[in-house]
Amino acid sequence: MSDERKEAVRQVAGELARHLAWLRDAGVREVPVPVPVMRRAPVPAPALSPAPALEVRPLPVAAPRPLAPIVEQGPAATSASQKGSGSPGLLAIRADLGDCRRCKLAGGRTTLVFGVGAPRAELMFVGEGPGADEDLQGEPFVGKGGQLLTKMIEAMGYRREQVYIANVVKCRPPGNRDPEPDEIEACEPFLRRQIEAVGPKVIVALGKFAAHTLLRSTIPITRLRGQWSEYQGVKLMPTFHPAYLLRSPAEKVKAWEDLKLVMAALGRQVAPGGGRPG
Ligand code: URA
Repeated sequence: MSDERKEAVRQVAGELARHLAWLRDAGVREVPVPVPVMRRAPVPAPALSPAPALEVRPLPVAAPRPLAPIVEQGPAATSASQKGSGSPGLLAIRADLGDCRRCKLAGGRTTLVFGVGAPRAELMFVGEGPGADEDLQGEPFVGKGGQLLTKMIEAMGYRREQVYIANVVKCRPPGNRDPEPDEIEACEPFLRRQIEAVGPKVIVALGKFAAHTLLRSTIPITRLRGQWSEYQGVKLMPTFHPAYLLRSPAEKVKAWEDLKLVMAALGRQVAPGGGRPG
């Protein structure tokens, strides 16, 4: 292969890798792969037909390494009408965010943490903002609190990939301080659009900060939790933040009560003997 052709292959492979990374950032966890079409045996050409004057060139397409598993969509997102219909919306939002510099959090972030999960999930969790682990990995709730959130999700009968998870702010506040009003103002429109694009039946607001932002309330989370509210016409259940539950394990009982209300609203049954997540 000529050097020119090798360079072209390298460029296409690079483009593809960047595109797939961008899709993953946008929360897309499934990439449709065209089913190979079986070729028919060539029909012999009439003996006297003139050969077309075509220059035959190999396509400059590199065979990329398979991506790290883009997590599959689960049943909550598998109906034909849903499949993919959420993704273009999320992709457009991610594209609008771009290399966001709308607030001062941009200067301190490693990675913008957009969201993750099924693009048409019936259940969506909204947290506060990325911590150190999330900032490094580009995915919400992957640290210790995230591990507990995953257990909570699984105790509700879902896999993590079947729900959608996002935060009020997409960039890590320095030292994990609370996001400030100008930062929320800059970021919240994107969360609102994410919620519209995913179209969940229920939102769970994780912790005081997410609940206060979404509900425009200052009522303590201890009073908000366990009570149905609404955000833009979507049922919203505030509950304790997983990080708080790690510090105050006795409160897990109350959080589990809240999640059971959510399960009931989604028509899910608690497994017999199904207790709260560890
Ligand atoms: N806490 C949050 O609120 N969100 C995350 O993504 C991680 C920790």
